[in-house]
Amino acid sequence: SDAFKDHPVYAHCKIIDFGSVKELPDSYVWAARDDEATPRIITGSSVPVVDLRDPNAVTLIGLACKEWGMFQITNHGVPKDLMVELERAGRGLFSLPLQQKMKAARKPDGISGYGVARISSFFRKRMWSEGFTIFGSPLEHARQLWPHDHTRFCDVIGRYEEEMKLLAGKLMWLMLGSLGISPNSEGMGWAGPNGDFPGASHALQMNSYPACPEPDRAMGMAAHTDSTLLTILLQNNTIGLQVAKEGSAGGWITVPTIPGSLIVNIGDLLHVLTNGTYPSVVHRAVVNRVEHRLSVAYLYGPQSRTRISPLPGLTGGDRPALYGAVTWREYLGMKAEHFDGALSMLRLRR
Ligand code: SIN
Ligand code: FE2
Repeated sequence: SDAFKDHPVYAHCKIIDFGSVKELPDSYVWAARDDEATPRIITGSSVPVVDLRDPNAVTLIGLACKEWGMFQITNHGVPKDLMVELERAGRGLFSLPLQQKMKAARKPDGISGYGVARISSFFRKRMWSEGFTIFGSPLEHARQLWPHDHTRFCDVIGRYEEEMKLLAGKLMWLMLGSLGISPNSEGMGWAGPNGDFPGASHALQMNSYPACPEPDRAMGMAAHTDSTLLTILLQNNTIGLQVAKEGSAGGWITVPTIPGSLIVNIGDLLHVLTNGTYPSVVHRAVVNRVEHRLSVAYLYGPQSRTRISPLPGLTGGDRPALYGAVTWREYLGMKAEHFDGALSMLRLRR
């Protein structure tokens, strides 16, 4: 992999050939082994699981959103076969030789393509992961990866995105419905045909966490909140996702894997839209010694020009609006400058 050292795209991507590394390079060491300062792992409490066919789903989702900012869903209607196909497509992509993946590398100012975790630039240490972002059509990059055989990949991605779009609309409807907000409520911009925001935008983020020789000292994806309205995450049958629950005093709770389920988490924009009633959730991904973990996040947000602000139905009286209005694009700009402080920057002073 040294041959890539001076390749301009490689320098920007800072990806290593994970399979060839027997010892964690210094730049990948996040914590000393048995470091007292390493946050505790909390057991015995778990992210709620909601069966979407449960008659009480709306209530259960509301509780999960308030208390956890995250929940798992079963009976969500996304075909099992499609989820399996997507996982296979992701595996195929990440198991290509590094040279091949580099042909689809994300450009320094681009969104789509292969590269390090999107939040990497905010951290001094490197993460034990690689990613592939799809924003718009995956065709161009898929052609670079598989010059003769890219249609299958594009087809799976297209079908999965369609399913996600429907599910995201449905989830918005359930989550906001639980707060007594309906699509026709005043000030709502989400009364599209499927309860969708008109022209809502989205991206697909595939993450690969190769087996790691020293998992306790490495980090797959550093702690962050998502800048989305909501994120729907598929994980393969390997744990790694952890959540910092409010009140868990800096401890991390591992999200179990449930075959066929999807994970939903609240992003910063839904936090703003609900005036903080549904707080965005801090999460991270850790790695392990033997298994290759794969996750695919569907990032769902408003159209780039739609302004998000606390819903009128959730403000007023003794509950004033806590946040100013912001578009997704503006918010991403704020986040780029103040990674941890973007939400508090948006907070209105009274
Ligand atoms: C992410 O939060 O972006 C990815 C989390 C995961 O891989 O589980
Ligand atoms: Fe995330």
